[in-house]
Amino acid sequence: MTIHLQTESSAPIIVYALIKDDTLSKQLSNIAKQYKVAAALLENDFKAAHKEVVSFYANKKGEEQKIYLVGLGEKAGFAEVLSAFRSFIFQKKSKIGAHIAIDISVWSKKNLEIKWVDAIANGITLGRYDIGLYKTDKKEAPIFISGDAKVDILTPLAKDSQLQAALNQGIRTAETQLRIFDLVNAPGNKKTPTQLAKWAEKSGKEYGFKTTILDKKDLEKEKLGALLSVNRGSSEEPVLIVMEYKPKGEKNLPKIGLIGKGVTFDTGGISIKPSTNMHQMKSDMGGAAAVLGTMELVAKLGLQVHLIGIVPSTENCVDGKSTKPGDVITSYSGRTIEIIDTDAEGRLILSDAITYMVKHFEPDTMIDLATLTGSIIATLGFAAAGMFTNNDELANDVQALGYRCGEKVWRMPLWDVYKDDISSDVADLRNFSGKPMAGAISAAKFLEVFTNNHTAWMHLDIAGVAFTDGEFANQKSATAYGIRLLSEYVISKS
Ligand code: BES
Ligand code: ZN
Ligand code: ZN
Repeated sequence: MTIHLQTESSAPIIVYALIKDDTLSKQLSNIAKQYKVAAALLENDFKAAHKEVVSFYANKKGEEQKIYLVGLGEKAGFAEVLSAFRSFIFQKKSKIGAHIAIDISVWSKKNLEIKWVDAIANGITLGRYDIGLYKTDKKEAPIFISGDAKVDILTPLAKDSQLQAALNQGIRTAETQLRIFDLVNAPGNKKTPTQLAKWAEKSGKEYGFKTTILDKKDLEKEKLGALLSVNRGSSEEPVLIVMEYKPKGEKNLPKIGLIGKGVTFDTGGISIKPSTNMHQMKSDMGGAAAVLGTMELVAKLGLQVHLIGIVPSTENCVDGKSTKPGDVITSYSGRTIEIIDTDAEGRLILSDAITYMVKHFEPDTMIDLATLTGSIIATLGFAAAGMFTNNDELANDVQALGYRCGEKVWRMPLWDVYKDDISSDVADLRNFSGKPMAGAISAAKFLEVFTNNHTAWMHLDIAGVAFTDGEFANQKSATAYGIRLLSEYVISKS
């Protein structure tokens, strides 16, 4: 598929995306006049609610045309434009042939935000997603998916370089997000830690970042004891994936470190999870996915930043060799940890990765992402990630970016009163309070210990937003949460 900005188009299918505001009736009557249909009928049929779609046929100068009206709702912003187009393409892909035009010249100058072109391109590309990765009976894909589909975005400003850049960002971001959908939706038997490492190596080669893989022997030699303890029950070897992107010849770039939880399957270990929704724990590498995707995208866009990504990866499984509740382990930092619940494994592997990041890279800013707790879902549902940081400026920056791009975060406290929850009688720390309260906060307090008082660290608990209900599937599925948020953050710093 190709998407271009054009001043005109010969496409037989034209799409208008309209905002539900006081200009709607005027816009509809202009469209009605242009295609010689009754304005009153259009106004009756189409209210521009978000994701509403209405179509009609027309004959303009002897050419048959089909017109789609897509609603953007009242509070149209980047996120609403994106999801309206993603949904439109996903719903109508078999009906729109191989060539469509999206006429955005109807948006007044005031409304035409440059970023909306990014949102349209991103939404259209994502709307082509097919989750049926392992189906053997591949239905014949519609021509818009299988053929050389063409999308013309119509605007008199087609040559504008800022619009061109926005278009490029939307497409490039979606390409990586689609690859990440596949990765997160893949089941545990098709994405082992070793396979995640291979994914990173291949992406690094293709897009230009360095990858170093620490295998089990390396981890033993370096004594990443917390990661190794989680891995004990698994027959798949653990890895620490270390990625580094640095544009050639550049000095004094902002240095950002990203860390992502890469549990490729979480059974809970000896503190085993109930079976009902256990299959969803194939998505317990959603943090890793955000980091892998951001590395790929930032390198692809050639952004001016020194970016380091670290992904600790293992399964959390049940075996005679598994770590048991009550066991005491020694982490990479040298701190001892009493394991109260083997299902609180994410904070363990992250603690070693955070120590590794601080020790080897000393980043200016450090952000970790993890599908860490059920508690954050109880708190925020599926609407936002939980954000934990002691740095107000970082908090405000990321909060604002989250609203703008639709990957929302909500700030949670990191007060020291919650520290008691993770103090142990026998070891330096314990990995769980044993109480069914404030679970997301005590998990964050646990991670904080390993940052060694880093002044610009942020933890995002993405358990509720990485794998949720969406239009691509009947069950919960991957959202690629974090790639957009983190790449926008990197852009804002570069
Ligand atoms: N991977 C889970 C958290 C999770 C739950 C992610 C639901 C996505 C959806 C994590 O490893 C876990 O099991 N956390 C426990 C911690 C508890 C034992 C302290 C939890 O939240 O119940
Ligand atoms: Zn767990
Ligand atoms: Zn987990």
